[in-house]
Amino acid sequence: MKVVLITGASGGIGEAIANRLAERKHNLLLVARNESKLKVLAEQLIRQHQISVEYISADLSKANTVQDIFEETQKRQLEIEMLINNAGIGSGGEFAALPLQSELDMLQLNISSLVALTHLFLQPMKARGNGTIINVASMASFIPIPYMTTYAASKVFVRHFTQALTEECKPYNVHIMLLCPGLTKTNFNNAAGIENEIGKGLNTEYNSSTQTPEQVADEMLKALDKRKHYIVSGRMNRMAAKLSALLPNAFLARSFGKSYRKRLGK
Ligand SMILES: NC(=O)c1ccc[n+]([C@@H]2O[C@H](COP(=O)([O-])OP(=O)(O)OC[C@H]3O[C@@H](n4cnc5c(N)ncnc54)[C@H](OP(=O)(O)O)[C@@H]3O)[C@@H](O)[C@H]2O)c1
Repeated sequence: MKVVLITGASGGIGEAIANRLAERKHNLLLVARNESKLKVLAEQLIRQHQISVEYISADLSKANTVQDIFEETQKRQLEIEMLINNAGIGSGGEFAALPLQSELDMLQLNISSLVALTHLFLQPMKARGNGTIINVASMASFIPIPYMTTYAASKVFVRHFTQALTEECKPYNVHIMLLCPGLTKTNFNNAAGIENEIGKGLNTEYNSSTQTPEQVADEMLKALDKRKHYIVSGRMNRMAAKLSALLPNAFLARSFGKSYRKRLGK
């Protein structure tokens, strides 16, 4: 059976994408850690859209998880027609003061598991001559953000990896797309522990250009329908991304660092 595999589907942008794809009658395979949320969402989507929705509860910050997921899809005889690498987490604060293990776990989730999922599921797509892989980066991928140092750098990796892979996959008719959301109203800030002082310093408080996860999902699908390889969601974010490309990284880092320290009176 053909399915779309969405990581981080238990909430936020991933859940919004799952809802939209279910409306389009795609069968789904949902992946995240929270099994009860996945179960509730799967049952709801099956009831509302008469599609097949399966789920796998898995922790993508652990190194062996991706191989287990791949084997599970083979056991269940699922053909992954589209892979959406959306699961991700952030962190904020002074790098030297953050627990090393949680920074490394974040890199495993944001980078290594994304690379491993892409590698494993790209093989059958390439052999078949069709398939789609969408990787979720961030506006943070355009700026070296002090006090969000590791997270922002992880998203630079996702952006460069995805844009290079886009070209490699063109001869095989495997469509690769990069999605860069900006500030989106989800559980992200809470999960990253930046809903407090640190978030104020990082200017991650919601404002008029903050999007809903549904808006991000809609922009992603519109771009996919047009066979685009790259989408920054939100008009203001698109302008900011273009502007940041004109400015030196050292200047951007300095400005963000100064602003953070000023906001927190450091
Ligand atoms: N919200 C924003 O402002 C924003 C801006 C730019 C980019 N993004 C990116 O958008 C993507 C989705 O984030 P979101 O805003 O929707 O955040 P969210 O509401 O916190 O959702 C994150 C999803 O990832 C899953 N996840 C977290 N850790 C996981 C792990 N170790 N293993 C498996 N799944 C895990 C979570 O489910 P469980 O907790 O059940 O595992 C959840 O389903 C991320 O890649 C993020 O970097 C978000």
